[in-house]
Amino acid sequence: MNTDSHSNIPRHIAIVMDGNGRWAKMRGKSRFMGHKAGMDAVGKIVKMAVEKKIEVLSLFAFSSENWSRPTEEINYLMQLFSDVCRNQIKKLHEHNICVRFLGDLSRFSSTVRKDMEGAARMTQENTGLKLMIAVNYGGQWDLVQAFQKIAARIASGELTAQAIDAQLVAAHLSTAGLPDPDLLIRTSGEERLSNFYLWQCAYTELYFTKTLWPDFDEAAFEAALHEYANRERRFGAIPQAKSKHQ
Ligand code: IPE
Ligand code: IPE
Ligand code: MG
Repeated sequence: MNTDSHSNIPRHIAIVMDGNGRWAKMRGKSRFMGHKAGMDAVGKIVKMAVEKKIEVLSLFAFSSENWSRPTEEINYLMQLFSDVCRNQIKKLHEHNICVRFLGDLSRFSSTVRKDMEGAARMTQENTGLKLMIAVNYGGQWDLVQAFQKIAARIASGELTAQAIDAQLVAAHLSTAGLPDPDLLIRTSGEERLSNFYLWQCAYTELYFTKTLWPDFDEAAFEAALHEYANRERRFGAIPQAKSKHQ
């Protein structure tokens, strides 16, 4: 767990990008147009994360529950993912961004999967921003797959049950090796995790804004960072004596 409470800039920011549909509805447009506008917001925020030297940016793009949407909407989102992988990956690569898709990729078509794997391969050596795009991701899925891997290691005699601790569980999650999110932003006024990072958000600062995702711009991002900088992270301890840090 990241316990660096002295830094005012988050190392890892996770975002539940919500409100594309409502943004479109308010303008009399189709939900598709909302998702398209949401992509422009993604571009702005990624650029800002690079400028601010954020280490990890996790974007919740498609949840394991989003399969219950109409097929046309799902297909449109799949096309957007492929478009990022095919047409925008070069730009991300030029900015030294390392892109990875987290989630159960097995449910995607082989074309979409290949696009995602290609984008990850192209950028895997990059040392700049780590951009984690969560697709068909669910926090419960992540824990279940971690437990399955751990159970298999126990069954093979490689591990004992007593060896299971928080560190071992974290090392089997799809976010293994990354610091836990310091800040989680959710747009559109909803105040829930919707099965995003469950384990990883144990001590994450939560920031909710009514702004709809396509309207989430540089100023909105700055406002979230400002609020984070003024939070006191205690990790169960007592408040720091002021004189220590002033
Ligand atoms: C978030 O916007 C994008 C995805 C979940 C893919 P929504 O599509 O959930 O937008 P609302 O919540 O209907 O406004
Ligand atoms: C959460 O948004 C998932 C993503 C942003 C990808 P939803 O719009 O699917 O969440 P609920 O259904 O309102 O909880
Ligand atoms: Mg929504």
